[in-house]
Amino acid sequence: MAPSIIFFGFLVLSFSFALASDPSPLQDFCVAGGDGNVLVNGLACKDPKSVQASDFSFSGLHMLGNTSNAVGSRVTAVNVAQIPGLNTLGISFARLDYAPSGINPPHTHPRASEILTVLEGSLEVGFVTSNPENRLITKVLQKGDVFVFPVNLVHFQKNVGTRNAVALAALSSQNPGVITIANAVFGSNPDIPSDILAKAFQLHKNVVNSLQSKF
Ligand SMILES: *[C@@H]1O[C@H](CO)[C@@H](O)[C@H](O)[C@H]1NC(C)=O
Repeated sequence: MAPSIIFFGFLVLSFSFALASDPSPLQDFCVAGGDGNVLVNGLACKDPKSVQASDFSFSGLHMLGNTSNAVGSRVTAVNVAQIPGLNTLGISFARLDYAPSGINPPHTHPRASEILTVLEGSLEVGFVTSNPENRLITKVLQKGDVFVFPVNLVHFQKNVGTRNAVALAALSSQNPGVITIANAVFGSNPDIPSDILAKAFQLHKNVVNSLQSKF
């Protein structure tokens, strides 16, 4: 094939990818009409000449996370808030610590897929597919195992071993975002009206009020 035809092929392909969609948002929303200090899909760039190695690094992921809380787990996030050099790169990282029986409760990342590996212990992990199937895809992971949570799907982990568990996760956004289902539904500010939650979850209003008081 003539090189010019190959070149033209690439040109057509890259053009169609460029038109396929807007880049994925890196924030929950961006209301137009700001004063010019509000940034779209990323943070303002430093002068490249002033960039240092510290802009691309973080220290401390060897540290045990504090799991003394109601769910028995701790996420230590390493995203663009910790490493400014991640801006626009579409990746981030996290350490997860779990006490025995600790859980990372059902949550979603609105802007990222996640790939997780177990460094210590064993984890029961899972995610749920979208409506109408809502299929639970679940597995018990041992040290060295890797699992993927597709973007936006509700997922969780539980330490099913007898000792502390540790995992590392990489995410496909500099700012993946987290929506913890229980907190978003029962702990919103202000509350979602309890009659709505009672009907949605088919619960008595007293149960909803009790759940709302916990989050
Ligand atoms: C862990 O968190 C608990 C609850 O917030 C706190 O009381 C405790 O001092 C923390 N432990 C350490 C070692 O920071």
